[in-house]
This record gives sequence, C-alpha cells and structure tokens, in this order.
Amino acid sequence: MPEFRRLALVTGASSGLGEVFARKLAELGFDLILVARREDRLAALKNSIEASQPVQAEVFAADLSKLEEIERTAAHLKSQPALELLVNNAGFGTKGLFWDVPIERHMEMHNVHITATLQLSHAALQIFVPRDRGAIINVSSVAAYGRSPGAANYCATKGWINQISEGIYLDLKSRRSNVKIQSLCPGFTHTEFHQTMGVSSGSVPKWLWLPASYVVRESLKALERGQLFVIPSLRYRVIASALSKAPSALRLKMGARSPQRATRLTR
Ligand SMILES: NC(=O)c1ccc[n+]([C@@H]2O[C@H](COP(=O)([O-])OP(=O)(O)OC[C@H]3O[C@@H](n4cnc5c(N)ncnc54)[C@H](OP(=O)(O)O)[C@@H]3O)[C@@H](O)[C@H]2O)c1
Repeated sequence: MPEFRRLALVTGASSGLGEVFARKLAELGFDLILVARREDRLAALKNSIEASQPVQAEVFAADLSKLEEIERTAAHLKSQPALELLVNNAGFGTKGLFWDVPIERHMEMHNVHITATLQLSHAALQIFVPRDRGAIINVSSVAAYGRSPGAANYCATKGWINQISEGIYLDLKSRRSNVKIQSLCPGFTHTEFHQTMGVSSGSVPKWLWLPASYVVRESLKALERGQLFVIPSLRYRVIASALSKAPSALRLKMGARSPQRATRLTR
C-alpha cells in the first residue's frame, strides 16, 4: 500500500473501459469513486474490488446527462483533497442520422461528453494545480479525427474533447505545471458500447477490434510519460493520421462513401 491515500474518480465505471480502468487503478493502489447511473453494477464492482485489493471504493450514482447531477458530482469531487486522477470516461453513441435522433438524446450526449468533462475537469484542476500533482484522462475516440454519417454529434463532441484537452495541456505547460492531461482516442473496443447503442457490430472486421484491457494499459503507460493524445494500436494511429491530414474534399468523399454502414456503426 502507498503511504499516502491515492484517490481516482472514474465516470462510466459500471461497464466497459470505465470498469477496466477502475479494476486496473485498484491494482495500482488507488482508492476509487465509481460514477455511473447503474448503482447495482457499481455496488457489485465495489464489492469485487474490495475483496481482491486493499483499497476502498465508493459508489456515487449519478446521471451525467443532467446538469444538476453534474453539479452534484463536481461538488463531491471538490471535497476530495486526496484526488490524484480523474477519468472522464462516461459516454455513448446514437443510432440514426442527425435529424432522426431525438434532440433530447443529442442534448444528453452534449451533457455527458462535454458539460460533465468540462465541469469535472475544472473542479479537479482546483485540487491538482495548487498541489502541482494529479492527472486527467479524457476518453475521446478515434472518431474525433473524422466525421461520418450517423455520427455527427458523436464525432463533434469527441472532437471537442480533443480540443479542450489540448488547450488545458497548453495552459498547464505555460505554468510549467506537473499536472498531466490525456485525451485517449480508442477505435472499436470490446465493451457494451455498441449493444447499448442498439447496433450490430458484426460487420466490423475482426482486425479492427481492440480489447478494453489493452486500451487501458496503453492509456496508463502513456500517462506516465505525460503524452497528450493516445491512440492505442498502430492501425488506428495510421487511420487518425490519414483522417487529420487528408484535404477536406477527400475526407468528405471517404466519410460519405457508405452512409448505410455508418448509421449502423460508430466508434
Ligand atoms: N467501445 C468503443 O468502441 C469505443 C471506441 C472509442 C471510444 N469509446 C468511448 O469510451 C467510453 C466508454 O465507453 P465503453 O466503450 O466502455 O462503453 P460502455 O460499456 O457502454 O460504457 C459506457 C459507460 O458510460 C456510462 N454512462 C453512459 N451514459 C451515462 C450517463 N448519462 N451518466 C453517467 N454515466 C453514463 C455507462 O454507465 P450507466 O449506463 O450505468 O450510466 C457506462 O458505465 C465512452 O466515452 C465512449 O465514447 C468507446
């Protein structure tokens, strides 16, 4: 056990990448605050973690699509002087073209991906910056580098995550701060993401899938060296680089190539 308490808050800890982050951080000696809506899942995770590691986990049920719940989570975070790491991971995708998805669902995505990330990061930095220690991992997506039919809001909100992460990184560098920030950009990863979205992931070639444990391992390794953008696996680094360097005419052609397919699949 480390001699001082190390605490991490993980949003979206009830499944997928968030659950893997929570388990891995517990192995590394972090106490945890587990945030998501499904309290039963969080309670089961807490019990499983506390049974296997000498750490404590707190269940904090919150719906981060609601502004008052984001406020409540940020207030709880602010009252944790031992906080060392914030993982803004909660997220989801939608099925259908932009106008076919109810506007309420788009607003929920905006709140979960943008408002919660903004507010929780701001609250965490009030603790980290004066202490000159701490880290934020924002879970973005390789989708941040492109646009595709059926994922307008998803790509845009993930693009925002990359941009705010880079902006905060530069603010921290301008102060020579030791606080770290990372934007993690995975490609297709085995989690409950596509099932929750109500889409079949069967047509995605096998070679494109990443295990969640690999994504989390790459993220935590990169955090050690203070890397801002982390795109696990060479194949996705190539895709992201091609998407970000392609002239917009080519990018639009690539994005529009298969609208039907893209409404079924997004990262
Ligand atoms: N899987 C992929 O292919 C992939 C690729 C790139 C990026 N990502 C990103 O990875 C992150 C984690 O997703 P995942 O793949 O692990 O999917 P997942 O297994 O579906 O997990 C999503 C998590 O987000 C939480 N969440 C969703 N809406 C929420 C809300 N309103 N309030 C609080 N928590 C909420 C869910 O918890 P509750 O339902 O219990 O609230 C769940 O714990 C997301 O940001 C996603 O965009 C995923």
